[in-house]
Amino acid sequence: MTFIDLFCCVPSFAVFTLQCAVKNNAWGSIGTKSEVALLRQGGDSTFELQDDMTYAELWMGTHVKGDSILTSSEHAGKTLSQWVEEHPDCLGSKVRSKFNDQLPYLFKVLSINKTLSIQAHPNKTHAEQLNAKHPDIYVDDNHKPEMALALTPFEGMNGFKRLSKIVHFLEAIPEFRTVVGEKETKALQEACRTDPKGTSDSAKAVLKKSFTSFMNRDESLVSEQLDKLEKRFQKLVDEGQDISNVDGEIFLRLCKEYPGDAGSFVSYFFNVMTLKPGEAMFLQANEPHAYMSGDCIECMACSDNVVRAGLTAKYKDVPTLCEMLSYITSTPEERIFDSHVDPSDPCVTIYNPAIPDFAIAKVEILAETRNHTLGAYDSGSIVLFIRGSATATSSSISETLSLRRGSVIFVAAGESVQLNLESNDGLLAFRAYCPLD
Ligand SMILES: *[C@@H]1O[C@H](CO)[C@@H](O)[C@H](O)[C@H]1NC(C)=O
Ligand SMILES: *[C@@H]1O[C@H](CO)[C@@H](O)[C@H](O)[C@H]1NC(C)=O
Ligand SMILES: *[C@@H]1O[C@H](CO)[C@@H](O)[C@H](O)[C@H]1NC(C)=O
Ligand SMILES: [Zn+2]
Repeated sequence: MTFIDLFCCVPSFAVFTLQCAVKNNAWGSIGTKSEVALLRQGGDSTFELQDDMTYAELWMGTHVKGDSILTSSEHAGKTLSQWVEEHPDCLGSKVRSKFNDQLPYLFKVLSINKTLSIQAHPNKTHAEQLNAKHPDIYVDDNHKPEMALALTPFEGMNGFKRLSKIVHFLEAIPEFRTVVGEKETKALQEACRTDPKGTSDSAKAVLKKSFTSFMNRDESLVSEQLDKLEKRFQKLVDEGQDISNVDGEIFLRLCKEYPGDAGSFVSYFFNVMTLKPGEAMFLQANEPHAYMSGDCIECMACSDNVVRAGLTAKYKDVPTLCEMLSYITSTPEERIFDSHVDPSDPCVTIYNPAIPDFAIAKVEILAETRNHTLGAYDSGSIVLFIRGSATATSSSISETLSLRRGSVIFVAAGESVQLNLESNDGLLAFRAYCPLD
């Protein structure tokens, strides 16, 4: 190695703060009820939070539709993608070779006040096929695994319920039975008798057939039953009756959010779950899901590939969705992602979905701790500070960064960051990175 090589490999500023893009989609939470808005304001006191505006997403990364901007170092004002392009070593050599000098993940905060569309994401091979066939609809050829980690109680639909649960609702709700169909209902009941969980291939085939029939049911029949069930449940509510044994509140809520959308019935097929803060769900390829309410950290492979099938005014592709789903059934509890404490740092909990694109580390420093080192990772990482305040120093930077709730920093591969806490109430931060061996 020559002197020049040595010099080039050490980026001059390898830890810096970022200002991140906010998205104001209509489904976002409003004003100060939105964690996205509060974090964005916390990280930048010049940000003007408006009480009547929706704040749906905070994007941390290099995506063209919301590139982060450097706010410290001599490079302040550059976008993160520009900086990465000029200093690809900050990604780490493994990420450079695996992901072609690109940051492979997009890190987000979501604040949701209205159910998002029912969707699933194709796997890599399928994404390539969809993109080749319909480049106008499926705009890129990448897969899009994603993870949602709750910051506040976070509600979403995720995967198919156990077969016995679906059959329970078919038997308890005649309107649901009508839209699924009599023949299909009988087939599901039959499958359920021998396999109540619905894990066998034959049970999955029956579920696929019934779900596909339901999704293709005549629109006028579906809207008639929707209307009927909505009125029936509403009457029961008005009479003060409990409709929780038939998940009536969720159905009514979906009807209000998406009037006339057949998607309101899907809560009888899919698990509806509420994550506690710190719990996560991971959406593999071909798993149906819809986020419903609350605030979460989200990490995903950098991609826009979504196949939608309901609760949306956007393009729906029902045949593709019905064909691609995996039809794995489960309980809501089984959908909670297993995290583990980092053996090398008890303050760190790792959520690693075992894909190269991303993992999330939760850093929770207890009250009364004075300092902590964010360890060096093999890949470039992005850290979002949720609670607590600290000053940060690193061997490669001359300035001291001042961090608080809402601050976001990029940490180059191989860099560690020394945090000196400024308050006595500890610190909570989340860090996205690539877990490449
Ligand atoms: C959600 O929207 C409703 C209706 O606009 C509003 O009353 C409520 O405050 C909103 N909640 C959040 C968390 O934004
Ligand atoms: C990818 O998805 C397609 C469509 O659902 C499926 O046929 C194929 O088996 C999947 N491939 C892998 C490797 O899982
Ligand atoms: C970290 O805090 C401990 C006490 O909690 C102190 O002894 C130590 O000097 C501190 N280290 C640094 C680098 O500030
Ligand atoms: Zn999704």
